Formats: sequence, C-alpha cells, structure tokens
Amino acid sequence: MSSVYTSQKGCDDTGDGTEEKPFKTVVKALLSIDGDESTTILVDNTGEDSSTKPFIEISNSQKKKQVKLYQAELRKGKAREVKEAEDAVKREEVLQEASKISISEDASLEPAKEIKLRDCVNHREKRIKAYGWVHNLRRQGKNMMFIVLRDGTGYLQCVLSEKLCQTVDAIQLQTEATVLVYGVITEVPEGQHAPGGHELICDFWKVVGHAPSGGIESVVTEKSDVDLQLRQKHLVIRWDEHSKALKLRSAITFCFRQHYFDKGYVEVTPPTMVKTQCEGGSTLFSFDYFGEQAYLTQSSQLYLETVLPSIGDTFCMAQSYRAEKAKTRRHLSEFTHVEAECPFITFDQLLERLEDLVCNVCERILASSFKDMLLEVNPDFKVPKRPFKRMLYTEAIQWLKDHDIKNEETGQYYEFGEDIPEAPERKMTDAINEPIFLCKFPAGIKAFYMLRSADDDRLTDSVDLLMPNVGEIIGASMREYRLDVLMEGYKREEIDPSPYYWYTDQRKFGTSKSGGYGLGLERFLTWMLNKPHIRDVCLYPRFRERIDP
Ligand code: 4AD
Repeated sequence: MSSVYTSQKGCDDTGDGTEEKPFKTVVKALLSIDGDESTTILVDNTGEDSSTKPFIEISNSQKKKQVKLYQAELRKGKAREVKEAEDAVKREEVLQEASKISISEDASLEPAKEIKLRDCVNHREKRIKAYGWVHNLRRQGKNMMFIVLRDGTGYLQCVLSEKLCQTVDAIQLQTEATVLVYGVITEVPEGQHAPGGHELICDFWKVVGHAPSGGIESVVTEKSDVDLQLRQKHLVIRWDEHSKALKLRSAITFCFRQHYFDKGYVEVTPPTMVKTQCEGGSTLFSFDYFGEQAYLTQSSQLYLETVLPSIGDTFCMAQSYRAEKAKTRRHLSEFTHVEAECPFITFDQLLERLEDLVCNVCERILASSFKDMLLEVNPDFKVPKRPFKRMLYTEAIQWLKDHDIKNEETGQYYEFGEDIPEAPERKMTDAINEPIFLCKFPAGIKAFYMLRSADDDRLTDSVDLLMPNVGEIIGASMREYRLDVLMEGYKREEIDPSPYYWYTDQRKFGTSKSGGYGLGLERFLTWMLNKPHIRDVCLYPRFRERIDP
C-alpha cells in the first residue's frame, strides 16, 4: 500500500488503513506499515475544502512527533516480548515439574456418592463426588488451592492441598473450567466463611474441560458496555444475577400454569406462523411460507377464541412477535405472551380475573421455595392490594390535563379519541404509584375484535393494566360477539375478512359474550424483579438490531 488512511472517526481495532476503514491513530498506521517512511500517511482534512477532499497528507512536524511515539511503542512492544518469553520459560519449567506429579483415587476410602450441590447440607461428613464449573479460584502458596464450584443448583467451596494442587491440570486450571471433585463435606471452622457454611476437603479431582486463561473476564466483565454484554450473553448468564433471573422466570412461569390449572383452564399451543393479523399491520413480521405471504403471530387470542366451544376456559403461553421500531425499556420484538380466554363472562368478571391472576401468582411465588431469592432480587416486593384502582380512559385524559402533561410533538393536551403514548402514560402511572385498570378506550384506537360498550357506542369494553415502573403489562377486552358489528370492525380497520373465515365462524356457530387478555411475561417479570430494563429478564432478548446469540 503506498498510502495509509487515518481519521479521528476511524477505528484501530477494525480499521485496515483504507479510505473506507481508516485507522484512528497515526501510530497504529505506522505499526501497520512497519514504520515505512515512503508510505504516504493521510489524516482528516480540517480545512474549508474538507467536503470535497476529506483527507490530506500528514504535515512533516506532525509526522516527526508521531514517528517518535511509534518508536516508543516499538520499544514497549519489545520489552513486553522479552517479558513474555521469560514468563513462558518459567511456565514451561513449572509444567515440567508438575508433569512428574500424578494423583489417583484412594480405593480404600468410602465410595463417593454423586450429588448436586444443592444437596450438600444433607451430605455433611459424607464422602461425595460432584461435577461443576470453577466459579472462583484462589491459590495460596504451592500447597493450597481453594475452588468455589458452581453447578447451577448451588455452590461449594473445595479445598485442594499438597499434590492435588501441584498437577499440570491444577496449574493450568482457570475459572469456568469444568471439574469433578471427590471428598468429604465438613462444616467450616468458626470465624471462617464459605457458601452454605461448609466446604469439601478434596481427596481426588479431575478436569472435565479446561477454560481459556482469565475465564469470562477475559471476554466480558460487569463494566463492559451493554452491547458487548448482550453479544456475550451466553457467558454473561453464568453470573449470579442472571442465573437468578432465569431461575425466577422459570418459577414464575410455573406459578402462572399452576394458577390456570387450579382454576380449571386447559392449555393449548396455537401455531405462531399465521395468515392473519391481530394487533394492526404496523408491527407485523412477514415472511415467505412456501410461496405464500405469512406472518409471525402478534397474539394467539383469535385461536384461543376458537377453542372455547371445545374446551371452555383456556390459556396459552406462547411466543408473540412485534416488529417494534421503538427501542425502549419495555419493548421486545419477540416475547412470551400469557393469554387466556373465557366464555360467558362480564366485563367486571374479566377485571376480577385479571386481579386474581396477578395477585395469585405473587402469592404463589411468595409461598414457594423461591421466596428468598425473589426478595434478594427485589427486597421491596409486595403483593399488590386488591381491588386495583379503576380509571376510565376519559378520566386519564382529564388527569393529563389537570397535571399539565401535553403531547410533546404538538404542544397540545391529549383529547378524547387519541391514543395515550407510553411517556405520558408512564408519568401518570408512576405518579399514582399503584396498579391501575385503565378502562373503556375509544373504538377508533383499538382492535377490530373489541366489544362496543352498551352504555356508549363510541367506547369499547377494554382495559389495560398499568403497573408503576413498567407501564402496561396486560391488554384485555370483551370480544365483539355480534356478527354484523364484527364485519364492520374488519371494514373500519381495512382488513380483508376472507382469511379470518374461521374466526368469523365463531359468531355464526353459537356466539358467546367472551373476554380475554394478553399479559407480557417479560413486562410482568420486569415489574416483579424490579429490573431497569426488559432485556434483564430475557435469556436472549430480541429487539431492533439484536438477533444474536
Ligand atoms: O395489548 P396487546 O397488544 O394485546 C394483545 O395482543 C391482545 N390480542 C391480547 C389478548 O387479548 N389475548 O398486548 C398484550 C400484552 C401487553 O400488555 C404487553 O404486556 C405485551 O403483551 N406486549 C409486549 N411485551 C414486550 N414487548 C412488546 N413489543 C410487546 N407488545 C405487547
């Protein structure tokens, strides 16, 4: 290359010195050309003609300074190389010494029973063996090594002494390696601390799989920026905080299922590849289904309605998808949707069922073995008081006026018929600071399937449950049961009714005044665990510009 480009906007790590991918620093450019003086170094043009000529050749004085820095960098590099070579020799000597040491299991000892680490306390003073990942590692001189082992069910401190910590495996051991340890679990002496108050006095151990030097910390740390943490989420989930979030998610999901089964609901698993929309075209993901246009479902509601005549009260916990442009603290493009549908109920009964669901799931988790974990994660957690505050949409519009909250784009107050966006809704919910049933939205801003209110035809029997800190966690409504009004709904929303023939048939083959709802599991968890962001309760969150891992 006869020219190498640099720019303040460039990057030393991913740059290659071309005009398209310039390096950020001149030193990096010089390192890339081994200090070759004949190569032209180009830098940002800060002159008036920069729009037509973005790069100019570096000035001689600037180049002189940069060459000095480059030479200093080279010297540092050489010193580093020498030190690395010396360290490598030392390591080799230590390894050679270590290779002479071998360990084996003492056949005269009591046979070891394999256990999970959650069961350690019941196996004190017994010889056990256990698999796990090295969570923590501390070497104390040549003759002692402490490992804190983690297996997803618990932690165990293991003490390795003498030959056990002098083998090649012991010397090469890093955090996150997998091992199998043998020994007797004993209570730690008074004044000493270890997880569970006990430790394993190890008598034999093996490595199952080594890990790179430095473990996870060599890739990502708690101080790394959010994007790196998300890219490395497969490693980050090994951290205690994330492991707790995953466990609580599992336990809370179980509580939802228990709630429904105890109340006689039947679970179904509707398809998520569909031909129809449920919540408006703007958030539909579409794809080619063997030559036909299809969508990822926004909600399983319409399918749930079809099973009512077959199985009665029903629920599902399925994935829903929204092509949300917004990148907010509460929006995902894929989420777990807890949805239920109930035939022959009234709007008031629907509200009671929602209240019961939320409070009962809270009560169940507090009565379970996960209570302590939940309170560790969210010490202020309490079951919300019943009944929840009921507020009409029209009252919310008035509340915003009374509190001088305006539409930031237009500078006007919100008026009847307008959707109340997330920001003002959050201000109101946080100010009121208790769960709110926001009821009876105008038909014009709601979906085609919602039942018109008997007392005011402009409104629908609909409700959103708003929680402090999170906002809407549930969207619910009574369903329009009259065939003619449903057909008008399709028309109003400019939806072709033909692919909905199976839904429309529910109004022909014995209609029912039914109601149902969708609860966003991740929003519920964000509220329950008091997490700052919805991604904190997801395994591998999906939102705009995030599709891996
Ligand atoms: O209010 P929504 O759009 O209602 C429906 O989809 C109805 N068809 C549900 C039904 O009646 N069966 O969504 C319901 C809930 C919201 O309250 C929210 O908790 C969650 O789904 N949700 C999202 N969660 C995370 N990210 C998103 N982009 C979400 N969109 C909706």
